[in-house]
Amino acid sequence: MDSKDDNRPMIQVQNVSKWFGSLKVLDEISFDVNEGEVVVMVGPSGSGKSTLLRCINFLEEFQEGNIYVDGKLVGYRDVHVDGTDVRRRQSEAEISRLRTTAGMVFQNYNLFPHRTALDNVMMGPLMFHSRSKSEIRDECMALLEKVGLADKASSFPSRLSGGQQQRIAIARSLAMHPKVILFDEVTSALDPELVEEVLRTIRDLSKEGMTMIIVTHEMQFARDVADRLLFFYQGKILEDGNPRDIFANPVTDRFKTFVRRFSQAHQPLTA
Ligand SMILES: Nc1ncnc2c1ncn2[C@@H]1O[C@H](COP(=O)(O)OP(=O)(O)OP(=O)(O)O)[C@@H](O)[C@H]1O
Ligand SMILES: [Mg+2]
Repeated sequence: MDSKDDNRPMIQVQNVSKWFGSLKVLDEISFDVNEGEVVVMVGPSGSGKSTLLRCINFLEEFQEGNIYVDGKLVGYRDVHVDGTDVRRRQSEAEISRLRTTAGMVFQNYNLFPHRTALDNVMMGPLMFHSRSKSEIRDECMALLEKVGLADKASSFPSRLSGGQQQRIAIARSLAMHPKVILFDEVTSALDPELVEEVLRTIRDLSKEGMTMIIVTHEMQFARDVADRLLFFYQGKILEDGNPRDIFANPVTDRFKTFVRRFSQAHQPLTA
């Protein structure tokens, strides 16, 4: 399976298991994400959500199973040695290419502090895309416009709010023309009044048909934006379906307990 056919899901996770030492943190995880689908992952701390996202763009290695992004095998290839198939790591060039297909946005933005907002967005395309600098600049300015920050193009990150920095980080990811964006708790480090502006940007992307996997503790947002909700617990997916159905009729008691604990610690969810 090397090139994408039209019906194939954008992401395929097949029986993926991962251990850190003797601790099994992903336990035979399988699910698909179709093109344009927004999948939200929730679950208690330590349940494996970040680890799985990191496996999808191969920031983490995994020992068993396969992941395909846009039809391409992630991280490994099978080579035939002495009559047996052996799994080998792909070349760094192949892995870099994968990371442009599946962009990732992190909790702590990771912007370069000594570069302006615009330079932060332009760095990736300048390195990876063979287009003229002025063309890249125009497109990156348009992306800053899209996230509502065209007027901050020449600002350095330290002069921007957390919400603004996070929107720059999203623009930076978009500049690579990803087919998928993976968001890992991108609002967790933000003051409450800045959360909504970032969520709005993500909502806009979902309306444009961007394929996304979003790990979040924002339950109301999860319910609003998700086409599908996955509930992680101890490295397994215990719930997988339409968020409204899951909230109304969870299959597992674990999910009920999770939501109850969550509601006690946060504002109650409205229907
Ligand atoms: N680099 C590492 N080395 C060893 N163990 C790790 C490492 N990274 C994560 N773990 C362990 O793997 C498990 C899953 O962690 P992970 O970060 O994926 O959880 P999470 O669901 O994202 O949690 P949170 O909601 O707190 O972000 C945890 O038990 C964690 O302690
Ligand atoms: Mg995490």
